Amino acid sequence: MKKYQDQYFKKAKRDNYPARSVYKLKEMDKKFHLLDINQKVLDLGAAPGSWTMFAAQKVGEKGIVLAVDLNEPNVSFSDQVSFVQGDVFEEGGPAQTEMESNAPFDIVLSDMAPKTTGIKFTDQAKSFTLAIEALYVARKFLKAGGSFVVKILEGPDIQELQKEIRLSFKKLKHFKPKSSRAESKEIFLVGLEYKG
Ligand SMILES: C[S@@+](CC[C@H](N)C(=O)[O-])C[C@H]1O[C@@H](n2cnc3c(N)ncnc32)[C@H](O)[C@@H]1O
Repeated sequence: MKKYQDQYFKKAKRDNYPARSVYKLKEMDKKFHLLDINQKVLDLGAAPGSWTMFAAQKVGEKGIVLAVDLNEPNVSFSDQVSFVQGDVFEEGGPAQTEMESNAPFDIVLSDMAPKTTGIKFTDQAKSFTLAIEALYVARKFLKAGGSFVVKILEGPDIQELQKEIRLSFKKLKHFKPKSSRAESKEIFLVGLEYKG
C-alpha cells in the first residue's frame, strides 16, 4: 500500500505539483470533462496549490482561476491565477469581495478540509459543514449550466448533502479517486448542469 501511495507523491514531485491531490482532480476532469479553455474557475481551499495549477493549465491564458485559502501557497502561479488569502465564509472578508467581483464562474471546486481531530464523528461533522457551505457559495456564484466539485468525508450526513446538490444540479455523480490514499474516507460529489 505504501508503494502505491508513494507513486503519487513521487509523481507530483516529478510533475512539479506541490501536492499529490492534483491527480484526484485530473481523474475527475478526465471522467466528467469539467475544465476547459477560457473558463472562469473558483478554487476553494486551494493551498498548497496543485488544483489551482492544473486548472490554470486547462483554462489557458485567457481563462481565470480565483484561488482562496486560509494559508498562502508557497508556489508561483501563472498570470491567469488570482490568489486570495482568507476564510471563504467570512462575511465582507477579502475572499467574499473577490468572489463577488469575479462571479459568475463556470465551475466551483472545493477541496477544503477541516483541521481533523481524529474523532470520527467530529471530523465527519466538520467536513459536512464545510461541504454544505461550499455548496451555498456555488449557488451564489455559479453560472447556470456550471459544475461543482466538493470533497466530503463519508458519514451519515452525506445523504443530506446529496439531496441539496440534487436540488440545484441536473446531475449528481459520486467519485472515489484511485489516487486518494487507500485509508482515506474522502469521496467527491460532482454536481453537473447547475439549474441557476
Ligand atoms: C486538502 S487542502 C487543499 C489541497 C489543494 N486542493 C491542492 O491540490 O493543493 C485543504 C485546504 O482547505 C483550506 N481551508 C479549510 N477551510 C477553509 C476556509 N474556511 N477558507 C479557506 N480555506 C480553507 C485549508 O487551509 C487547506 O489548505
